[in-house]
Amino acid sequence: MSLHPEVAALLAAWRDPPAGEDELRGRISATVAALKALRRDRPDLFEKEAARLVRPAGEAPLPTPSGADAREGGDAPRGGPVPGDPVRCLKEVFGYEAFRAGQRELVEAVLEGRDAIGVLPTGSGKSLTYQLPARLLGGVTLVVSPLIALMKDQVDAMGRLGIRATFLNSSLSPEERRRRTEAVRRGEVEIVYAAPEGLEASVGAALEGTRLSLLAVDEAHCISHWGHDFRPAYRKLALLRQRFGSAPVLALTATATRRVAADIAEQLGMRSPFQFRGSFFRANLHLEAHRKGDDGVNSREEILARVRARRGESGIVYCITRKSVESLAEFLRGKRVRAVAYHAGLAAEERERVQDAFRAGEADVVVATVAFGMGIDKPDIRFVIHRDMPGSVEGYCQEIGRAGRDGEASDCVLLYSWADVMAHDRFAEGVEDPEVAELQRRQARRMLDLAEAEGCRHQLLARHFDEQVEPCGESCDRCRPRSRSARAATGARSRRGEAAGTLALVGEGPSGEALYERLRAWRKRVASERGVPPFLVFPDATLQAVAEARPRTLDELAGVKGIGPAKLAGFGAALLRAVSES
Ligand SMILES: Nc1ncnc2c1ncn2[C@@H]1O[C@H](COP(=O)(O)OP(=O)(O)OP(=O)(O)O)[C@@H](O)[C@H]1O
Ligand SMILES: [Mg+2]
Ligand SMILES: [Zn+2]
Repeated sequence: MSLHPEVAALLAAWRDPPAGEDELRGRISATVAALKALRRDRPDLFEKEAARLVRPAGEAPLPTPSGADAREGGDAPRGGPVPGDPVRCLKEVFGYEAFRAGQRELVEAVLEGRDAIGVLPTGSGKSLTYQLPARLLGGVTLVVSPLIALMKDQVDAMGRLGIRATFLNSSLSPEERRRRTEAVRRGEVEIVYAAPEGLEASVGAALEGTRLSLLAVDEAHCISHWGHDFRPAYRKLALLRQRFGSAPVLALTATATRRVAADIAEQLGMRSPFQFRGSFFRANLHLEAHRKGDDGVNSREEILARVRARRGESGIVYCITRKSVESLAEFLRGKRVRAVAYHAGLAAEERERVQDAFRAGEADVVVATVAFGMGIDKPDIRFVIHRDMPGSVEGYCQEIGRAGRDGEASDCVLLYSWADVMAHDRFAEGVEDPEVAELQRRQARRMLDLAEAEGCRHQLLARHFDEQVEPCGESCDRCRPRSRSARAATGARSRRGEAAGTLALVGEGPSGEALYERLRAWRKRVASERGVPPFLVFPDATLQAVAEARPRTLDELAGVKGIGPAKLAGFGAALLRAVSES
């Protein structure tokens, strides 16, 4: 089979597209892109002549559609419209059926050469808004991201889609860096991922002489003092922007108040940017929060019960300090939970190992500091537990955003205390810039206020990001007590199935649901006697399991999910009485 004549004809049409036929031009462009991808994956299909024609090096710039040249000066978009149909590219290159909220709008803005800001929640598919234009725009798309640990994965994922991507960061040997820089210079790369640190040195040279088509700034809140994770190196991006002034800038973040978004635009020198703000409301996340008790009731045991109720499912437990990460992970492992520890104090290889084990399902629970998580794209994380209160609402939002990316019901449990606020204050003492330190102190208090404020938790969270939503009705502990929440039903699904069978056979006593309600009443009494929140006596999931198992002896009770030795000793006898009284 000879591809040569077809390829030659296509390329001729591509370089000199038929005037006025936007659709045809788009199709040609997409086919050429597909051919190029095919050549990378299956070079054996191309004989020498055809291979030379589609090889990326020395690639001619994309044809400018008729009329676009006239658009100049004023507020006119730079670059003009780009051939190639985004929807088609979405399907053919990325394999998705439809755009998600905000994606089309952002992609179109970028393709028109406009600066754009996308504030879309975690897991909503922000990456696509630069990956797709990267393919359609030709030239080089530079993606600046602080998440060095994830760059390799992203590059690999792009490779699987047939998109030529590479990354440049401090993890590379000078030799490897030179090799990659040259590949970029030769025009063999569509997307370059780079860390903001050392950006000028590493990337500036690589981009010299190439056509930079798009500058994408991921986790863009890092550029703002008012954000929660300010990184000085991000301020250097303004220089890069000046240097490559003609390429549009796309700033992406999951967490930005309007003030932070405005600051991002200013810092990056954006020109009347297009803005898209997605909704922060994610109904599949069940939010709850509990003030930590200080009378000896152990939040470790509570966390263990939660983890056991989700046995075999993936979750993250966030702690403030490395020390508590280590000790909680160890404790969980002692209870035969497949838990691993992750924090910035571990060697890079160890961190990578942990990340891989988690992704591969070899570890169920990662106990981590905030060093873990940003950008992690594991779809089936079923719970995120905060052992300690996060330092800001933005941080909280990022961290719970790891859960339920596949849209399935997932739990977000926040444990907090005033002592956590104090701990954040101590961190702030170590911050040089007094303004930033003060901001951090305020952010921790904001977080505490959010946890304690009255009303729907989703509504409170959305309001923090200047969005008005109705009370969620069923996805938080304020709108719906956990017993009847959709999430409790999911969490107990398998057990309920078993229990239903048992009940049918035994055919005695109140239904599991009725017993559960009675146990809740009992728990409430015990909790108020001890002056702790009911959750700290037993989580709902445990009560549910008990209601379904109907244990009669301490031995049987010990076999119920969520009942550890401490609980057994502390509450076992009383709980058994409560069960038998029903
Ligand atoms: N149009 C789409 N249809 C279906 N799935 C999509 C679509 N766009 C993106 N995805 C998938 O959604 C998931 C999340 O995407 P992505 O990692 O880009 O999220 P994000 O917005 O960058 O989140 P974060 O803020 O956590 O970084 C990915 O698995 C991606 O493949
Ligand atoms: Mg992302
Ligand atoms: Zn609610």
